[in-house]
Amino acid sequence: MSEKGKIEIDNITKIFRREDEDIETLTALDEVSLNVEPGEFVSIVGASGCGKSTLLRIIAGLETPTIGEVRKDGDTITGTDETRGLVFQDHSLYPWISVWNNVTFGLKSLGKYKEKKEYAEKLLELVGLSQFKRSYPSQLSGGMSQRIALIRALVTEPDVLLLDEPLGALDAFTRMNIQDVLIDLWKETKSTMILITHDVDEAIYLSERVVVMTPRPGRIVDELKIEMSYPRERSHSQFVEYRNKILKKLDYAHEQSIGYYI
Ligand SMILES: Nc1ncnc2c1ncn2[C@@H]1O[C@H](COP(=O)(O)OP(=O)(O)OP(=O)(O)O)[C@@H](O)[C@H]1O
Ligand SMILES: [Mg+2]
Repeated sequence: MSEKGKIEIDNITKIFRREDEDIETLTALDEVSLNVEPGEFVSIVGASGCGKSTLLRIIAGLETPTIGEVRKDGDTITGTDETRGLVFQDHSLYPWISVWNNVTFGLKSLGKYKEKKEYAEKLLELVGLSQFKRSYPSQLSGGMSQRIALIRALVTEPDVLLLDEPLGALDAFTRMNIQDVLIDLWKETKSTMILITHDVDEAIYLSERVVVMTPRPGRIVDELKIEMSYPRERSHSQFVEYRNKILKKLDYAHEQSIGYYI
């Protein structure tokens, strides 16, 4: 397991000013603390508006907390850097350059193209898209684009990969497919993974720990260690038990009949 990639979220509160509303401020995060170990896979689930993206943006260094701090490997995060990669729902590949140039874009800007070219090839192969190297993003399906977005973020070997609903726009079948790809990529890269998802099953299927948040104000209310070996069986009784526990925490247990998305 990699030595680097520890994240310490130390009692952070994030207050936004909202001048357009009667309420002048909004507490998006209220005294949130969480430690993530090097190489760990943690998912964060919670209803819309509970501050998940805000939390991830603070870890990325795109936002600063109003109170408290976040550290990576002991150093306070004050901005973005290449040790923390980000993938959003909108893959935002550069449409005017080829798949290969998209994947290696970060390597070139870091001056590591020669050194990491073979690694880029390996990741492309791992996600099954080697033959699309010379294609352009417009020629790819949504699922293929998201695979490329994942390896584009991983090719520079970040210690931590931050994932904000990366599979949110995909159909259920493609989504399950890429969940397996994501596990392969995690095992290959050994990066710390912090994933935000609305899909409780996805969180249980992928992560070693699931963190549950609730809104108004955004707080962590629980966390569960998922003690199942990979690959996980979605119909396994233990899996179902975890699902029920999390849904109950989210107060959505009564809505099981309409699916597991929150
Ligand atoms: N830049 C901002 N200015 C003002 N308010 C903001 C800003 N960013 C987020 N908020 C508010 O903070 C709260 C948390 O937003 P956030 O985007 O973190 O939620 P989320 O859990 O990611 O929701 P979703 O699941 O819908 O993506 C919301 O009420 C949102 O309106
Ligand atoms: Mg969000």
